[in-house]
Amino acid sequence: MPVNKSYSKQFLASEAARCLLCYLPACTKACEKGFDPAGFIRSVRFENTKNDFGKIIKDQCKNCDAPCEKACIHYDYPIRIRDMAEHIESKVTDLKEVSLSVEFCGITCENPFFLSSSVVASNYEMCANALRAGWGGIVFKTIGFLQPEEVSPRFAATNKEGTPFIGFRNLEQIAEHSLEENLMYLKKLKEDFPEKIIVASIMGQTEEEWTKLAKAVTDIGVDIIECNFSCPHMSAHGLGADVGQSPELVKRYTEFTRKGTHLPILAKMTPNLGNMEIPAIAAMEGGADGIAAINTIKSITGINLYDMAPAPHINGKSAVSGYSGKAVKPVALRFIHDLASHEQLKGVPISGMGGIETWQDAAEFIALGCENIQITTAVMQYGYRIIDDLILGMKAFLKEQGYNSIHQLCGSALKSFVHPDLLDRTTLTYPIVDKNKCIGCGRCFISCEDAGHQAIKFEEHEHRPKLIAKNCVGCHLCLLVCPCGAISSGRRVPKPS
Ligand SMILES: Cc1cc2nc3c(=O)[nH]c(=O)nc-3n(C[C@H](O)[C@H](O)[C@H](O)COP(=O)(O)O)c2cc1C
Repeated sequence: MPVNKSYSKQFLASEAARCLLCYLPACTKACEKGFDPAGFIRSVRFENTKNDFGKIIKDQCKNCDAPCEKACIHYDYPIRIRDMAEHIESKVTDLKEVSLSVEFCGITCENPFFLSSSVVASNYEMCANALRAGWGGIVFKTIGFLQPEEVSPRFAATNKEGTPFIGFRNLEQIAEHSLEENLMYLKKLKEDFPEKIIVASIMGQTEEEWTKLAKAVTDIGVDIIECNFSCPHMSAHGLGADVGQSPELVKRYTEFTRKGTHLPILAKMTPNLGNMEIPAIAAMEGGADGIAAINTIKSITGINLYDMAPAPHINGKSAVSGYSGKAVKPVALRFIHDLASHEQLKGVPISGMGGIETWQDAAEFIALGCENIQITTAVMQYGYRIIDDLILGMKAFLKEQGYNSIHQLCGSALKSFVHPDLLDRTTLTYPIVDKNKCIGCGRCFISCEDAGHQAIKFEEHEHRPKLIAKNCVGCHLCLLVCPCGAISSGRRVPKPS
């Protein structure tokens, strides 16, 4: 049954979320016209719809008997590819002239998208594949003299309503390969990809080790050094987040890193504290050129109540460890805001990360002051291929909104944040229900009744919500729980006296 065009946004989002995003997708393989339906669905999933994927399918597949849909291997029913194309409002933009090139710590980067230091950038081949796919740079997996012994399993996830993982917990430490091997990978990466940015993430155990590591990676030709002051689950004491929580240690280890290099130094911060500005200022005083944030958040993702084993459990035991992925984005954005708006850190280059999956996520970090973006968990979930939609989506946004560079967007949302004291508390906006879009599920009623101000009437014979304006405080919980986008925000008016 065709879906009403009023629900295009909801239909596209739910259908794209249902797609399994297969490797070697059967739908694309089955297309006799050589189109890429899988690429189209992925572009919808990753919020990049200003392209001609949907338009091609809409225009040219009307009379096709849809071998793509027949070939779909979904365990339930096939993704409705042609219906999705019908719902796309593709305003195709010419992106040839749009550049994502950006200066970061004095270095020109082809685009702001880097792999962040982790398993996704832990050997030569992996990094080379990512750079060939279009990533602007890589931050190699943290290296050090310490070669840790890792646990199995080492990952766990939190999920909700069928979304495979919204948050991700890991127990991985620094690189498992030897220091010599890692230095060789880094050297070869810079030699083979001279135009890409190669960042070495380092972690020393003593002051001398920080200097030696900085010197070693400088000698082999990397572009930037990132100091890992932030891994929250190192098995040895006095490393990672233990350092990042102490401004004195951050400053001292940055100074010792500076002794071994002339390259830009980024200090990677831990979010496992209240005020990130304090260690960030200490790092700048110690000789850093910029800040990277955030590393993972100390977490426990869950406990199996039948054997009391936390996930992931290693012979029944686990340890508090780092949380990442979409769920941490709000926390990461808050820290970025705090860094970028602090008087003593104004103008300091920031590399932002934590839950970035789409170009929109990335643009929000940039709008709060980041000139560089790093990603791990989304790559673990979806692969290096997300770079296509990151690049195209960001280009389309810049072009459409008239920004002529990433720099112009950088920090432009900071002015929108004020102290809670300064917020307008004299006006409100009432919700407006679109009667044509409302399907009468009553979710707005339930939420308003049980968690709001009893401002919605829902009579059984009418099966539609009715606003009781005198009770409504304009909190907009109804708007947030409406599953079909039928409730919007009305005009701002003075609060009734
Ligand atoms: C499996 C895994 C391994 C990681 N290893 C490192 C590491 O070696 N060094 C480091 O600085 N950060 C490490 N991180 C943290 C990430 O670089 C990043 O700061 C964090 O995951 C937040 O970004 P994301 O939400 O895009 O994953 C790791 C993260 C994960 C999930």
